[in-house]
Amino acid sequence: MCGIIAYNGQDDAIPYLLEGIRNLEYRGYDSFGCAIDSKVGIIIKKDIGKVDDVINKYKIQDFSSSKAIFHTRWATHGGIKAENAHPMVDCTHRIAVAHNGIIENWAELKESLGAHRFVSDTDTEVLSHLIEEKLNDGADIQSAVKDAFNKIKGSSSFIVLDKQSDDLIAVKKGSPLVLGIAKNGNFLSSDVPSFVRHTNKVVYLSDSDMVVLGKKNYTITNLMNRDVNHDVSTVNFSYQQAEKGDYEHFMIKEIMEQPGLMKNLESADLKNVVRAAELVKHAKQVYLMGAGTSYHAAMLGAKVLRENGINAVAVQGQDLITYRKVISAEDVFILISQSGETADIINVLPLIYKNQKIGVINSEGSTLAKDVDVLIPIGAGLEKAVASTKSFTLSGVYLTFIGMFAAGRGEEAIRDLKLMNINMYNLLVPSVLSAIDKVAEKIKGLENVFFLGRDANYITALEGALKLKEVSYIHAEAIDAATFKHGPLALISDKVYAAAVVSEVTRNDMLYNLQEVKARGGNIIGISDKNENVFDMFIRTQNGGAFTFVMHAIILQLLAYKTAMLKGLDIDHPRNLAKTVTVL
Ligand code: G6P
Repeated sequence: MCGIIAYNGQDDAIPYLLEGIRNLEYRGYDSFGCAIDSKVGIIIKKDIGKVDDVINKYKIQDFSSSKAIFHTRWATHGGIKAENAHPMVDCTHRIAVAHNGIIENWAELKESLGAHRFVSDTDTEVLSHLIEEKLNDGADIQSAVKDAFNKIKGSSSFIVLDKQSDDLIAVKKGSPLVLGIAKNGNFLSSDVPSFVRHTNKVVYLSDSDMVVLGKKNYTITNLMNRDVNHDVSTVNFSYQQAEKGDYEHFMIKEIMEQPGLMKNLESADLKNVVRAAELVKHAKQVYLMGAGTSYHAAMLGAKVLRENGINAVAVQGQDLITYRKVISAEDVFILISQSGETADIINVLPLIYKNQKIGVINSEGSTLAKDVDVLIPIGAGLEKAVASTKSFTLSGVYLTFIGMFAAGRGEEAIRDLKLMNINMYNLLVPSVLSAIDKVAEKIKGLENVFFLGRDANYITALEGALKLKEVSYIHAEAIDAATFKHGPLALISDKVYAAAVVSEVTRNDMLYNLQEVKARGGNIIGISDKNENVFDMFIRTQNGGAFTFVMHAIILQLLAYKTAMLKGLDIDHPRNLAKTVTVL
């Protein structure tokens, strides 16, 4: 994954792109690079490090140009080294290429380009030399780009700056790329929020589109040379969403947005939930697919569907391959994704091209959103912190709706949602926040923390453990409390802390399991609507009926956040991670 943003127009591109690339940093932050058009040729500045560090090092803000490309990298091919940062140039320094994706046949292409001087270990550099090769044969830049694109295999989007052309040329296949149409120029970017301050008019590009971006106009053709007419969409989020406001980090801003978002759901249009409920009701089997946090939402959804009499299973994107011999035409798929661009899911879509698909997706113009038959946009707004928070709870609520509506329990679902929203007022009160602070203080120095739960609480425990791992780098393992006695109990000693997620349905069995932990010296952090003798520390949650998992999830997200704060970590950009994972 990587983030790319480019501008070509009558204004100075640099301030736009500086702002834009900072907004794309969630896509990767190993290195930053830019290609700036100038009278003396293409200026390339790049280095390893966070976007702002490299920008300050080269004083990028002091440049001025009407045409430029900025890139932030998450290393896939070639280590984290300055020479592997994008953009890549050709041997003559005529063109610069910034790329997001993977060129699967780079090795054979590189061999065929033996006479060219390669300076990096990346697959991307193959592109700049392929284009150069065609230019040397006398092709114009558009044909040269098209030819290069036809030769590469895999998912890729890339933008080319040619010092001999007034245009920027871009191609999309697999990896995201959108066009933004502003008053005095146009943007190309990996996502909309990076330029939404300057325009809300966007064109969501399709695979195999080639864009020629002039200073005033643009043209889109596909790789078969046909003109392409895409609608211009108006996006409905504001640039304030792309900013932290009074919060120190996006993660805490996004956690705290959840009560408001849950309240908004009371007046949400549930037309597509009803359509989805009809589809799953008549399915032979429902598969819910997701990755990372979205997989946890898939697990939650599958459980709710089963509890409502529907045969449902959660699958981690790539694992669908193991089901290929049992998938039938009457099976329905629910795709869950914040970004709508996760390669693990996109890659298995050919296996289910004939099946009905429901999308529970945050990014409405995304690849997955375009591919489904029924789209349920979860309406989380922009989620920028790498660790996903509000998308988990909103997806979970919509999936619960689908299951309950399918079983004719729609009214009960709405009643429970309202109950949760009332009880939400008591969730984030000062006593609870200070209880979370105390637990964070206790666990910040630990190497391991267990998360225990039964039933749906086990899934919330999985998500709580993932959050702690992602942002605080503490090893956290979630275990179904019912299975603890089958092995993990051997790990318990008086040095061990286990966060136990407890609610009404499983309370008695859970307390029994916790006694077993306690009897072996373990320390128990209770996350529950009632304090219990077995707890050593206690964080009070609230009952939310079918949506109690939302209450638990918010508490666990806060615990991860506060622990990472105490450790002084870079919470919005955890090491080695990226928010949108467009590689397998
Ligand atoms: C990455 C992110 C996770 C996210 C997962 C799935 O691993 O770091 O936070 O849950 O991708 O992303 P999606 O956009 O499909 O929900």
